[in-house]
Amino acid sequence: MIQIKDLNKKLLDAQYAVRGKIVMRAQELEAEGKKIIYCNIGNPQALKQKPLTYVREVLSLVEYPKLLENADFQKGFHADSIRRAKYILEQIPEGVGAYSQSAGIPFVRQAVADFISKRDNIPVDKDRIILTDGASKGVQAVLFALLKNENDGILIPIPQYPLYSATLTLYGGKQIDYYLDENNHWLLNEQILTESIEKAKQNSINPVAIVVINPGNPTGAVLSYDNIKMIINFAERYNLSILADEVYQENIYDESCKFYSFAKVMYDMNKTSVPLFSFHSMSKGYYGECGHRAGYFELRHIPEDVLEQFIKLQSISLCSNVVGQIATYLMVAPPQEGDESYALFVKEKNAILNDLKEKAKILGEGINSIPGMSCEIPQGAMYAFVKFELPEEKGIDLNKMSSSERKKYEAKRDSDYCLALLEETGICVVPGSGFGQLPGTLHFRTTFLPPKEDMEELVSKIRKFHLNYVEKLK
Ligand SMILES: Cc1ncc(COP(=O)(O)O)c(C=O)c1O
Repeated sequence: MIQIKDLNKKLLDAQYAVRGKIVMRAQELEAEGKKIIYCNIGNPQALKQKPLTYVREVLSLVEYPKLLENADFQKGFHADSIRRAKYILEQIPEGVGAYSQSAGIPFVRQAVADFISKRDNIPVDKDRIILTDGASKGVQAVLFALLKNENDGILIPIPQYPLYSATLTLYGGKQIDYYLDENNHWLLNEQILTESIEKAKQNSINPVAIVVINPGNPTGAVLSYDNIKMIINFAERYNLSILADEVYQENIYDESCKFYSFAKVMYDMNKTSVPLFSFHSMSKGYYGECGHRAGYFELRHIPEDVLEQFIKLQSISLCSNVVGQIATYLMVAPPQEGDESYALFVKEKNAILNDLKEKAKILGEGINSIPGMSCEIPQGAMYAFVKFELPEEKGIDLNKMSSSERKKYEAKRDSDYCLALLEETGICVVPGSGFGQLPGTLHFRTTFLPPKEDMEELVSKIRKFHLNYVEKLK
């Protein structure tokens, strides 16, 4: 029989905290009848967010075109959804059950190119767009392609989204951590970046790329134009490619912030020598269509023969799922003014974004009112990375520990805390150590996706729990 020891060690070593032990315990407790508030993962529709009507109308029609042949069936659909389903099926007469071109259906890639071009006012080539099963697969494709050997390294933000660390472990590259600056709205800091890369080089690591997540997961921070400029100059100086993870580009709540894509800033700077891979997805934004696995990446400043290799890589798994590709089309080409479903689209979109904005505030302000706990009020994305303080444990001298012992000790402390929070309150969050954190600090990440009533309850339960937990340690 196959045993654990027969499996690839890289798989055994990979860690993915967002769906780790604490979540499994939450599922056990739920099966026993306890109410669980799931704040561990950015999965909006699992937390009662409704899908947008036009998306589901068009998808239903393209999945089952017979509906288009019968006037009675059509009564339940908006006229523009019917028109669009017909248009899509004209583009792919074979329907959604057939493989597409490896890079994706051409008219969808053109729509993605038009979307980026309109968003950023820059030229975009549809042949440099690859449609993927969510952003994750695009990120993994790029990391796979860039890692030539075990000593190639990728700069990863700390805290980070664990897709990056787990994929690096799977593919065998080196992780070069750079800390985000918690004291400066979690922006990237040039000195920290330089120190990290120089240290990696001294350790014979060959840095090949930098990952930037904007807006940030788990930090909820939105990068400024100048910060992005600094990162582009840094990448140029060290000959790095940039992986710009922009899946939360529609999730911005702080009116003083604006989303700037790396493509736009690079275009403005006229930097054509820095390779750029930009990722987007339908899982986030106001769509929350995580289950459709819809996404794309755009490649800039790379030669034709390199592009061909990326398309070949995609062709090895034939193509991304075709319903997801159509969903991506619907994301980048939503109803327009004059369309019958436009008013409903705007209403649904605004309701979701306004609700998230309110919940970001309820969570942020609530957490900041708890003694010994703090977070940035999320400017964007769907998360807060909450810092909490615990009294030192008697008999423990951190100064006598090596840095790896200390890391382990702190990881156990924040995991124990999150587990106790779950057992006592039913709130399921992810320990900060799953994303990485500065030594000497403790965090957990929570989403603000649960319904508003639950968010208020969540803050008051966390307050009560935290004060008790600290008291018991004293
Ligand atoms: C920063 C970031 N990138 C990528 C992803 C993956 O998204 P997708 O569902 O498109 O694969 C997530 C999901 O939470 C994320 O937070």
